[in-house]
Order: sequence, then structure tokens, then C-alpha cells
Amino acid sequence: MSTKASRGNFASKIGIILATAGSAIGLGNIWRFPVETGQNGGSAFILIYLMCVLLLGIPMMTAEFVIGRHTHTDIATAYQRLAPRRPWYLTGYAGMFCVTLILSYYSVVAGWIFKYTLDALSGTMSFVDNSAEYFATFTQSYYLPVVFALLFILLTHAIIRRGIQNGIERFSKVMMPILLVLMIGLAAGSLTMPGAKAGMAFLLRPDFSKITSDVVLSALGQAFFSLSIAIGCLSTYASYFKPEVNLLKTSVSVVALDSIVAILSGFIIFPAVFSVPDVTPNAGPGLVFITLPDIFRTLFGQATLIGYLFALMLYLLLTLAALTSTISMHEEVTTFFVDHFGMKRGKAAVIMTLTSMALSVLCAMSFGPLRKVHVIDGMTFFETFDYVTAKLIMPISGIVLSVFVGWRLDHQMVVDELTNNGALHIARPVVAGFFFMIKWFAPIAIAAIFINELLS
Ligand code: PFF
Repeated sequence: MSTKASRGNFASKIGIILATAGSAIGLGNIWRFPVETGQNGGSAFILIYLMCVLLLGIPMMTAEFVIGRHTHTDIATAYQRLAPRRPWYLTGYAGMFCVTLILSYYSVVAGWIFKYTLDALSGTMSFVDNSAEYFATFTQSYYLPVVFALLFILLTHAIIRRGIQNGIERFSKVMMPILLVLMIGLAAGSLTMPGAKAGMAFLLRPDFSKITSDVVLSALGQAFFSLSIAIGCLSTYASYFKPEVNLLKTSVSVVALDSIVAILSGFIIFPAVFSVPDVTPNAGPGLVFITLPDIFRTLFGQATLIGYLFALMLYLLLTLAALTSTISMHEEVTTFFVDHFGMKRGKAAVIMTLTSMALSVLCAMSFGPLRKVHVIDGMTFFETFDYVTAKLIMPISGIVLSVFVGWRLDHQMVVDELTNNGALHIARPVVAGFFFMIKWFAPIAIAAIFINELLS
């Protein structure tokens, strides 16, 4: 088993925030959030989502940081070390299983984005007349979606191989600021479109009659997914945090950045959705791929240089946002093989890469040759992986994580992690609030939402 010293750390605090925000900010914000918002009635969903993020997201993220930074090892070994010979560590394995499924279907969407980036680069995109048809033809084709999903996993592999500081940290530090600036520019552009008013109303005017148990579970699932919470990814990153990092502050920064990006992507997508005929807000997973190309044509007309550059930069950056997230998923399992079995990093990464590649083929074909293959309840592989991870494993792992940190871990040890052994002054009510949320609110709220959904 490796030691603290030999496995290295992130070099800087800003690197930590940007890498962790890189894990959180991804297709979950820019693709899944608008899709979920659209399908769950808009503003009502966003309201519940923001409540989940604030009340559950910050304490749960901090709880995961506590586990990772205290043990400086992978998630399964961390649980084993903190509670020897007890079954808690099974949550660590469930987390790695979950993250592998997510990586497999996530890479498919990331692969689509990668393909669109190349289309933007070659100029093909400006000349597509019917975006919906173009998207359907591509995703239903036999081999192209598979090729792009596999390519994306290989890209992830290339960065993982370079390690924490030279790979993940360096990459995130360059890409995340560019991503933020681009999003702001794009939202500003979108708000000048004819459907801006209707789009904003859809996002901002809450309709409480739309809130059902399914909407609440979807919001919870989306919050967990978007923040990469409860399945070991964040604790793995925290295992590379230095002792002087302020865990609570880091969670607040990451949660704030993640929520801003999610809302901004709503500001980009929905004004556009309401400006384009025949596209409805509940259009589903194709929303980003159909609407965005339409935005470009509406904003810039066909084949202008500015339209070309705009589309290219946006898809490139979407690719990079997705990449900072797939890297964090991959890293969790790679770290496990390295820390738990003492494997070389290169070999560990190859095992994870090959496993997720095999699974992602099934997901990539779920819109074409395998679209009639249903795994559970009429769902394709792609839909099953999404459902099992966001609606089953993430809530259950969330309950276990909060009970573990709130009730099982030594209280003083957790306080020491929050205050860096007393070096940081954190107001008592803040610490008490953290414990209340993690001991009582999180497990009860998550269990209530989850059981309610199961019964309905
Ligand atoms: N949070 C990422 C996103 O919003 O795209 C997705 C994700 C990354 C989920 C890592 C889970 C995870 F462990």
C-alpha cells in the first residue's frame, strides 16, 4: 500500500478548487440540468434543486472531503481503515461500480459533443439545415457513436496517465477559467434572442403545482450527480489535498461555481428553445445538440467567420468540461487499484479504461442497434445506467455516507478535519450546523424522498 508521501498531492489551493469544480461542472450542468429542468416543469424543479444543493450538497461534499483527506487513500480502503472489519467499505465498492457505469454512459454523450466539435472545426455544422434530423441520424448510426465514445475514454486515459499534478491539476487550471468566460458570453448572446422572455419565465416563475415526489427525487438525483457527491469521487480528490486546505470553504466554492454554471446553462438553452419553432423544453437528451446549432444559425446566419469560431469554441469547451469530469470518475478507480493493490498507475489506468470502454459500447448503441434492447422496465442500457446511478445508488450511498460521518466517525476527528486540527477558526454554529445536517437532516431527507419514490 502506498504512503502519503509517495502518492503526491495537488500543488495549490486554486488547483484544488478548479480540479474539484472540474469534476462537478460537466455535462451534468450543461446537458443534464437543462434536460431535467425541461422535463420536470422548469422553475419548480430549479427551486428544489437549489435547496438540495445548499442544504445537502455542501455538508455532504464536506463529509466526503473529511473521509478522503483524513485517510489519504482510495474510497474502499478509506472506509476499511476508518471502520475496520465492518461492512461500511461496501459503500466504497458500490461507489466505484456507480462511477464506472456513469463513465460508460457519460462518455457516449461526451463523444457526441466531441463529434460536434469536429463538425464545428470542419465547418460542416454551419451547413446543417435540420439539426434534429442530423442528430438523430448520427446517434442512431451503427458505429460512429461507439467510435467517439471510445475516443473520449482514451482522451481521459491520456490525462490520467500523467498523474495528479501534471495531468489533472494542470489541465483544470487552464480549462476551467476559459469555460466560465465562454459561458457568460454565450448566455449574454442567448438573452438577446426572441424567446428570451418566455425562456426566462420558464426558468424563474415557480409553478408549485408541478412539484411531485418524482420531481423532488429528480432534483435530488441531479444535485448529487452535478456535484459528483456520495460515490467516492470527491473523497478520492480530497485524498490528494494538503493538510492546510480548508474543507468547508472548498465545498462552498465548488458548490457555488457548480450552481452558477448550471443556472447559466439554463440561461443559454431556454431562451433559445423558446425562440426556435418545433423544439419544446421537454425535448430530452437531444436538447443541447439540436438547440445549440440552431442558436448559432439564428445568431450568426450560415457560414460566417464569427459563427464558425463561436461554435468551435463552445463545443471545444463542452468537450473539455466533460473531460474534467470523466477524469475524476476514472481517477477514483485508478487510485483504488494503485492504493489498494499497489499497482503501477499506468496499469491501473488501463484496467479502468478497458472496463469502461466495454460498457460504453452498450450505451453508445442504445440509440441505434440496441434501442429495442430493454434492461429494466422498458429502459435501454443508456437509460438503465442513468437510472440506476442517479436514482438508486447515489441516494443510498448518500444516506450511508451521512450516517457514517455523522454517527460512526469519531466526533473530534471530524472537527479536527474541519478546523485543520484547530489551526482554522470556524464559528461554533457553523460546526454545529454541519453536524445537524449530516446526522439528521441528510439521512432523513434523502431516505424520505427515496422511499416515497419507491412506494409510488
Ligand atoms: N458532476 C459531473 C457533471 O455534472 O457532469 C458528473 C459526475 C462526475 C458524476 C463524477 C459523478 C461523478 F462521480
